[in-house]
Amino acid sequence: MKIVTIVGARPQFVKEAVVGEELRKAGFEHVLVHTGQHYDYNMSEVFFNCLDIKEPDYNLGVGSGTHAVQTGLTLIRLEEVILKEKPDIVLVYGDTNATVAGALVAAKLKIPVAHVEAGMRQEPRDMPEEINRVLTDRISTFLFCPSQTAVKNLKKEGMEKGVWFTGDVMYDLYLKMEKHFDYSLAEQLDLEENGYVVVTIHRDFNTDNRDRLEEILKQLRIIVKYKRVIFPIHPRTRRRIKEFGLENHLENLDIIDPLDYLSMIGLVKHSWKLITDSGGLQKESYFAGKQAVVVMPDTGWIELVQKKINALSEPDQISDILFTASINQFEKGIYGLGDSGSRIAAILGEPE
Ligand code: UD1
Repeated sequence: MKIVTIVGARPQFVKEAVVGEELRKAGFEHVLVHTGQHYDYNMSEVFFNCLDIKEPDYNLGVGSGTHAVQTGLTLIRLEEVILKEKPDIVLVYGDTNATVAGALVAAKLKIPVAHVEAGMRQEPRDMPEEINRVLTDRISTFLFCPSQTAVKNLKKEGMEKGVWFTGDVMYDLYLKMEKHFDYSLAEQLDLEENGYVVVTIHRDFNTDNRDRLEEILKQLRIIVKYKRVIFPIHPRTRRRIKEFGLENHLENLDIIDPLDYLSMIGLVKHSWKLITDSGGLQKESYFAGKQAVVVMPDTGWIELVQKKINALSEPDQISDILFTASINQFEKGIYGLGDSGSRIAAILGEPE
C-alpha cells in the first residue's frame, strides 16, 4: 500500500519523525512531500537532521506568501505529484496551509485522507489554523484524535465514522528522543536550572496587532527583573517587532534564533516555566513537567488548563499569572501512552 505524506511547517516535521518511521516499519511504500512553506535552515532542515527524518521525495518550493498564495501554489503543484504517484492514502498533519491543501487535492481526486491531530477546535474561529482544521476534518476519511476532547468535538459536529483516539504522536516523539535532548544551550547562556523562563510567540493574532505585541513585550520586561527570559524568536515575530518599532522592549531579554527540537526541549526541561502561543510547546512543557502560560484566548489542549497544569492568559495578565499560578502534577495517559504512531500505522494497514 502506498501513502503520500504532506509536510510544510515545523510542527509537521516533528510529527513525521514518528509517523513516517512507523509507516515504513509497517511495510507501507512511503512518499514524503515537503511543500516548502518553511525553508530557513533553522525552520526546516535542522529538524530533518536532528530527528533523522527521511529526506523529502518532493519539495514544492511554495515559500512564504499570503494564505491564498501558499495554499493555491500547494494545490497546483501537489496535484501533479499525486496524479503521478497514485497513492492509496494521503496523510496530513495538524492545521497549517499544507494540511488543508493536501487534504483538498486528495479528496478531489477521490483518494482517502488521513488526518493526524483531527478534532482540535479553538477560538478565535477566524484564525487561519482553525479554518484549516475544520475544513480538513470535514473531508478526511481517517480522523486520528490526540485527545478525548478532540473525539467529542468531532461528535458534536456529527463526525463519528472513521474517528479514532490514538493519542498524540508528539508524546511518542518526546519519549523516543528523551535520551538525546540537548542541554548545551543552558551552559552556553550560563542558565541556572529552574531559574529562567522560555518564551515563544508567533501566532498572527499576537504578532500582527501592534498593541497586543507591545503588551506582551512589556510583560516580558517586568518578568526579566526577576527571572532570565530566553526568547527563541520566530522570523515573523522578529519582523513585526522591527516594523512596529518595538525593539527597545527587547533589552535585557535573551533573544536567540529558533531552535531545533532537541535543543528546544532541553531548554524547556531545565526552565522554570514557559510563556507560549505554540500548540506543540503547550504539551511538550507538560511532558517535561513544566507549566505554560498560554497567550491565547482559548486552546485546543484545554485539558491541560482544566487540570490546572497550564493557564490561559491575556497579554496584560502574563506576569501576574506566571508568578502566581501553581501547577498540578503530571498525569499519565491524557494524550495516550506513547504508541500513537504505531496505532495509526496499524489502523491504516487494516483491510477495510
Ligand atoms: C505556520 C502555521 C502554524 C504553525 C507555524 C509554526 C499556517 C496557517 N500556520 O505559521 O500553524 O504553528 O507555521 O511555525 O500554516 N518565515 C521565514 N522563514 C521561514 C518560514 C517563515 O522567514 O522558513 C517568515 C516569513 O516572513 C513568513 C512568516 O515567517 O511570511 C510566517 O510564516 P508562515 O509559514 O506563513 O506562517 P507561520 O507563522 O510560520
